[in-house]
Amino acid sequence: MNTTPDHQTRPRTWLITGATSGIGRELALQALENGETVSALARDTAPLAELAEAHGERLLLIPADVRDEQAVREAVERTVARFGRIDVVANNAGYGLFGAVEEASDTQARAVFDTNVFGVLNVLRATLPVLRAQRSGHVLQGSSVYGQYAHPGVGLLAATKYAVEGLSEALVAEVAPLGIKVTLVQPGMTATPFLANLDVAAGLADYDATVREVQKGIGELPESAFSPAARIAAGIRTAVDSPRPPLRLALGTSGATGMRAALEGRITDLDGWRHVTEAVDA
Ligand SMILES: NC(=O)c1ccc[n+]([C@@H]2O[C@H](COP(=O)([O-])OP(=O)(O)OC[C@H]3O[C@@H](n4cnc5c(N)ncnc54)[C@H](OP(=O)(O)O)[C@@H]3O)[C@@H](O)[C@H]2O)c1
Repeated sequence: MNTTPDHQTRPRTWLITGATSGIGRELALQALENGETVSALARDTAPLAELAEAHGERLLLIPADVRDEQAVREAVERTVARFGRIDVVANNAGYGLFGAVEEASDTQARAVFDTNVFGVLNVLRATLPVLRAQRSGHVLQGSSVYGQYAHPGVGLLAATKYAVEGLSEALVAEVAPLGIKVTLVQPGMTATPFLANLDVAAGLADYDATVREVQKGIGELPESAFSPAARIAAGIRTAVDSPRPPLRLALGTSGATGMRAALEGRITDLDGWRHVTEAVDA
């Protein structure tokens, strides 16, 4: 019996959301440079025109806002009509909201969930029928170090990434029997236009010593604190190449250190309060 994975005998097809810049663009670029095919979804596909010129038939540009379920469904249909299948879904589109939890307005909070969580769900509902029919595929869920810990200023952003982590932990077990893999991509600080694209909540003076100090600290970080997007994309490709990819893929040492400290903090709470935990047992 031939046990060679399908993608090793033919080029993979990627569907990438938020492919115009940063990590999404790098993923598209590296896939194309490796002879693979890419369906690139973007609100405005114009920034990808040069890439399309260079890679012709192997790059399909589709205008789609991830918040628009119908547009995402149509994009998936066009992808399958053109390439016949989808091997990797990069649920990458997203943005950050910075500010104290109390400072974020209802509109700002709902907007960031609309893209970072409900957009992810739109992509899942549109692509999983294709992957289930194939009995294969790999879903890359755009998380972050902020899917595992948070500090002042990133509460709402972290809330969206924790939501993606929670649903993905169930998803991985739901779709594994159907031949589908799921990996949460957890980059640390990465050199992309992410910070330039941040939404920022209005400042209350009471949060100057916490939120604004953190904001200032991030603004003063040296270039060397940010991983190049190309390395993040290369790390993601290593996981996609693996027959046994992880559920969680930490990308960048400083983020991984923060995530480890957060995990240890959870164990400390579990252990330190065991007497109360166990006292409620029937
Ligand atoms: N950079 C970091 O430090 C970092 C760290 C951890 C995790 N991440 C995550 O990595 C992912 C990619 O971010 P990035 O760093 O590459 O930032 P980026 O350069 O700002 O890219 C974000 C992409 O998402 C797209 N997008 C935003 N809202 C969208 C919507 N409603 N519909 C469709 N596309 C939308 C943007 O498209 P437009 O051009 O249309 O705006 C852009 O292509 C995000 O999920 C982010 O949370 C980034």
